[in-house]
Amino acid sequence: MNPTPVSLTDEIPSALARQLQQAQHIAVLTGAGMSAESGVPTFREAQTGLWARYDPMELATSAAFERDPRRVWDWYQWRRELIDHSRPNAGHHALAALQHSCAHVTLVTQNVDGFHQLAGSEPVLELHGNIRRSVCSRSRREIEPDWLDRHRDRSPVPSPHHPDGLARPDVVWFGEPLRADLLDAAFQAAADCDLMLVVGTSGLVQPAASIPVVAVEQGGIMVEINPTASELTRHARWHLQGSSAAWLPRLVDSL
Ligand code: OAD
Repeated sequence: MNPTPVSLTDEIPSALARQLQQAQHIAVLTGAGMSAESGVPTFREAQTGLWARYDPMELATSAAFERDPRRVWDWYQWRRELIDHSRPNAGHHALAALQHSCAHVTLVTQNVDGFHQLAGSEPVLELHGNIRRSVCSRSRREIEPDWLDRHRDRSPVPSPHHPDGLARPDVVWFGEPLRADLLDAAFQAAADCDLMLVVGTSGLVQPAASIPVVAVEQGGIMVEINPTASELTRHARWHLQGSSAAWLPRLVDSL
């Protein structure tokens, strides 16, 4: 069944408002579109997406890091600085308000920018890690920001935890497994929720893209926020067409 499209100039359909108000457990999956209005580029949009300009196999795999750690570290430093100079947007703040005002909201994100936490969301299941943290490439122990600061003129930065280790961002690269406990919690929330909100993701990266599918298979209703159709749109009951920074405050205000 095709979703009902709703544009920003439409009223919120009363059936959707009812579903939102009556939901006992809301699960939310966010992707890069969530942070687009904070000034952080998405990955797959044709002109502006990071993967339109850079080859992920050269920058976001452990093989790439082994081949050319400086290049990979410098690219992540550039993204980290961009994120450091950006702020959560109205959408992040609205989701944090939803988490505080609603009994049961599970927030799952593919984003590594930490904006949900900065906006006040807690807890956040960060499936792909967090670019603000760095770990040892050998031991995976976290590296203190102090150490990175002291070595900020070096690239790659050596690890304090292992003689052959280097600092790497604490993010999941292509081909690497996601943390099993976070993934289990995300799928459990999907199976358990009555409303699944999918925000700003192309739905092209597994296993995250299966989370909303499980929610729908288990009887949950999916609502998508995205300016365009995604790989997940066909599973949605409503497609809220437009940006997350515009839609999320509207939805939360309607509760
Ligand atoms: P994508 O870049 O694949 O998709 C971004 C989605 O956001 C698209 O569907 C856009 O239409 C939508 N979008 C753009 N602007 C928006 C806005 N203002 N409001 C709402 N939606 C908007 O990003 P992801 O689906 O998050 O993985 O990508 C998934 C993973 O692929 C990322 O976590 C990353 C990447 O490789 C890792 O780094 C491991």
